[in-house]
Amino acid sequence: MDAQERHRVLNDALNDEVFVSNDLGYPVVVADDVLPHAERFLTERSQAFVVLFDGETHVRRLARRLARHPRCMGVRAVTLGEARKRLATVEEVHEALLALGAARDTLVVGVGGGVASDLFGFAAATYMRGVPYAHVATTLVAMVDAAVGGKTGVDLRAGKNLVGAFSDPVAVFSHVDALQTLEYRHLREGLAEILKAAIIEGNEFFEAIENLSPHPFWRWPWQAIVAEAVRVKIMIVMDDRLEQGMRELLNLGHTFAHAFETASGYRVTHGAGVALGLRAASLLALRTGRFSEREYLRVLGTVALLGMPLQTRVDPDAAYRAMQSDKKRRDGKLRFVLPRAIGDVEYGVEVPERTVRSVLAQLRYTPESLG
Ligand SMILES: NC(=O)c1ccc[n+]([C@@H]2O[C@H](COP(=O)([O-])OP(=O)(O)OC[C@H]3O[C@@H](n4cnc5c(N)ncnc54)[C@H](O)[C@@H]3O)[C@@H](O)[C@H]2O)c1
Ligand SMILES: [Zn+2]
Repeated sequence: MDAQERHRVLNDALNDEVFVSNDLGYPVVVADDVLPHAERFLTERSQAFVVLFDGETHVRRLARRLARHPRCMGVRAVTLGEARKRLATVEEVHEALLALGAARDTLVVGVGGGVASDLFGFAAATYMRGVPYAHVATTLVAMVDAAVGGKTGVDLRAGKNLVGAFSDPVAVFSHVDALQTLEYRHLREGLAEILKAAIIEGNEFFEAIENLSPHPFWRWPWQAIVAEAVRVKIMIVMDDRLEQGMRELLNLGHTFAHAFETASGYRVTHGAGVALGLRAASLLALRTGRFSEREYLRVLGTVALLGMPLQTRVDPDAAYRAMQSDKKRRDGKLRFVLPRAIGDVEYGVEVPERTVRSVLAQLRYTPESLG
């Protein structure tokens, strides 16, 4: 398959340059340039709005373009970054909203990555007991994960995302062109979640990822990749409203990821943790006889292809201890989200302690078959 053909596989699944879903009860739009879609939405809503943006230069241009809309009351840069994802910053945002003249019926439009969608979303959910919020996503993590699903919040000193609220946005716009200026290390954080979605979904999505050439990243069919990953997340979040627990699927690789992050004192980033976690979950599934060797190797191949780690120096005992204190653990037993096949993932699987420990120990080594 040449590059053209690979792009076609993904684009066929979409058949369009713009992805729009209303399945969550609000529009989620994925397009290279999302501005015309956002402007149309704002005009149709015909409601006064303010723009808040992550005070990062590339995002600034986008925010300024939005702020030219006749309904815009004002625009404000906010210094973000994970260290600023705190209640003190939420208060700053509340004060800024007041200074901009935002009232109960003012729409807040946030522009930025996952920190922006979590923090601005939470600030909007709590300003005057809640004002409507729309997000323009400019990082891969925000596009495929953070901005979709209605989880907002901030960190405490004791840990990440410990304060927050479920609060659906009124719209999400993923501005795919923004990825062109994103540093690779930030892009990689989102790649892990995309791979997770591809394993859950299977079929053409996984094959398309598997067949991408590793370089150069900027030539990837990003619009189609983001749209597919978003479609998977929307499908799961939507199903979870009917049947409790479906959302668990999104935690594929995450029990391990959190353990590696915690046990390494956060030297292992979330994205790297998820990549390691996808290997670990696949290996656990293989060891417990529910996943084939062939598919395990396919997962390893994609993790390597996307330039993500397959091995870690994290001490297996420390990782196991971290896993035991994971907040998601219930009645003393560890439960895992494990693949039965690519495209067939199950949750709530109990696994014996010694098998989990042996998988953690194995993660210290490069998989033999990949040299
Ligand atoms: N609510 C959820 O469901 C959910 C899900 C996943 C992640 N998250 C949260 O998302 C956060 C991580 O998100 P993130 O990776 O987007 O981090 P981020 O928002 O900090 O963005 C990463 C960096 O990229 C910069 N940036 C943003 N857009 C850019 C662009 N277009 N070009 C160049 N630079 C740009 C930012 O200023 C920042 O320095 C974490 O706090 C995590 O907890 C939340
Ligand atoms: Zn994650």
